[in-house]
Amino acid sequence: MTSNELRQAYLNFFKEKGHAIIPSASLLPENDPTTLFTSSGMQPMVPYLLGEIHPNGTRITDSQKSFRTQDIEEVGDNRHTTFFEMLGNWSLGDYFKAEQIPWMFEFLTKTVGLNPEKLFITCFRGKEEIGIPKDEEAAELWQKQFKTVGLEAKIVDFPERDGLQNGRIFFYDEKKNWWSRAGITEKMPVGEPGGPDSEMFWDFGTELNLHENSQWKNEPCHVNCDCGRFMEIGNNVFMAYKKTDQGFESLKNKNVDFGGGLERIATALNGDPDMFKIDLFAGPLKLLEELSGKKYGDKGDSEYINDGKQCWVDVRKQFRVILDHLRAATFLIGDGALPSNKDQGYFTRRLIRRSVRFARDLNVQENFCAKVGEIYIDEYQVAYPDLKNKKAEVLAELEKEEKRFRETLEDGIKEFDKLLKGFEIAFQQTGKKITEISGKQAFKLYDTYGFPLEMTEEMAKENGLVIDGEGFKQAFAAHKDLSRSGAEQKFAGGLADHSVETTKLHTATHLLQAALRKILGPHVFQKGSNITVERLRFDFSHPEKVTSEQLEQVEQIVNQAIEQNLPVNCQMMDLAEAKAAAAIGVFDDKYEKLGGQVKVYTIAPSTSSGQAGENSVSREVCGGPHVEKTGDLGHFKIIKEEAVSAGVRRIKAVLA
Ligand code: ALA
Repeated sequence: MTSNELRQAYLNFFKEKGHAIIPSASLLPENDPTTLFTSSGMQPMVPYLLGEIHPNGTRITDSQKSFRTQDIEEVGDNRHTTFFEMLGNWSLGDYFKAEQIPWMFEFLTKTVGLNPEKLFITCFRGKEEIGIPKDEEAAELWQKQFKTVGLEAKIVDFPERDGLQNGRIFFYDEKKNWWSRAGITEKMPVGEPGGPDSEMFWDFGTELNLHENSQWKNEPCHVNCDCGRFMEIGNNVFMAYKKTDQGFESLKNKNVDFGGGLERIATALNGDPDMFKIDLFAGPLKLLEELSGKKYGDKGDSEYINDGKQCWVDVRKQFRVILDHLRAATFLIGDGALPSNKDQGYFTRRLIRRSVRFARDLNVQENFCAKVGEIYIDEYQVAYPDLKNKKAEVLAELEKEEKRFRETLEDGIKEFDKLLKGFEIAFQQTGKKITEISGKQAFKLYDTYGFPLEMTEEMAKENGLVIDGEGFKQAFAAHKDLSRSGAEQKFAGGLADHSVETTKLHTATHLLQAALRKILGPHVFQKGSNITVERLRFDFSHPEKVTSEQLEQVEQIVNQAIEQNLPVNCQMMDLAEAKAAAAIGVFDDKYEKLGGQVKVYTIAPSTSSGQAGENSVSREVCGGPHVEKTGDLGHFKIIKEEAVSAGVRRIKAVLA
């Protein structure tokens, strides 16, 4: 089974179990200020897990493009990647553990054909303080499944302390077996959904003897011990709780949120713990071998002495970084994060520049990023036709960014080496060792030579140095072009607890679009929308500057609708009905693929029957969520109007 076949087999399996297959959402979340990137399959599903009605019903499945920024500098071992595909299936208040566990077992052992003897399971130990019990139910359901194939699966506790104990099913605490986007229970912001989970691990086997040779050799081996013997391949979250001020409340619905790493399941199937040996990476890997004249696994330049023996660090790390980063950059550009110095684009830039730096170690002389990108786009063309349609643009961006960085890379490395030399001379003269690169120096590498801060940090670390991060931020802020708000997000990221604020701004966005169409004309359509906790940003089609009188009128219309405290109603319609009801929205093939059912939000004075009347203020096809009454919004104010590109304007507005 190829990885492309595996993805399809998973989707078909859940389709047969009554699930609607939906396309992957973009890597750049819309209207979600809480994270910069889509980093799991559940993220676009959050409103539905919290109780919103999903247009496709209560059983949903997909393969979601995901990107995790925290792993960028971690990439280099045999299993970490920044980009991955998460196979997902959801029960939105429909089935629960008793269905999910047998299905998962069937899918992995029958459909994919993985050997159940190598499959291990973890469940939640429970946490008394928050009233969430030990998940004996899940453990026993798994045990029954193993019995069907003649395996006695022993359930044991405290594997972190006592090791495997001949067990197959293990209980762990919330650090390992509780899932929310923010991690453990304490970290979850109010309103965030989460729940106990049950993870599945693949055993690459004692025959590899990884544990014996590893730094963990004196610790008991267990499935979560990181020694390399086991790899997590999927996670069943029983998402039934929501964080409140007081603690936790049960969600109206008991949901299942499953996420499985496509590449990880493929790695298990491949039988080699090195994820970079699966078919999805084969084409780019071969190209890199050709361009560098080095084989994956060859000796590299750096050497070290261990137990009196001379050892070399091989070049797998360089290959892995490039294989991962350029795949991620290809998909990110495809979703609109072009390399830049701000926000999401900064990550794309970092990925490409880090790849170019590592390719230098491999002695790759010619430009290679677009060549690698092209192989990936071809490999993924069936699953991600949108990416294929943007091929020329994506490759041009990769090429441009590589070229730009190569112009300064050699000089930047010389500058860096000069710094090291200077430190050495200072040490010889004064006897005092300098261990810190100043903020100014790091900023010069950033500004003049295009070294992302994190890359300089990594190079510093390789030489036993650190960087004065505060000093860098100061130098950064002092510089005129760069004192932007993006810096905050770029260096922080993470979750915010402001779902109410963003929901309000989302409803205000609908009122704004309706008002713009009224004042400027029906040629106005949404071209983009981005909401943070502080403001909404709305891009729309309009050929010229919006005058200040027009902006005032728009504000007035929105504020009138707020003062009238109009109800916001949601209805399910099929596409034809929605079009007939004059709902505005993006009627693209995404909705066709969704089977035609859409949600339509109407803001209108209610009639005596309580239904939205025909004199609606706004009617839009939209996934939600929205406030119930416009009176909740407060006062609407436009703070900026500007051009984005030819024929597209942008408005930023706030609610006070
Ligand atoms: N949302 C769960 C995860 O990402 C499935 O692990």
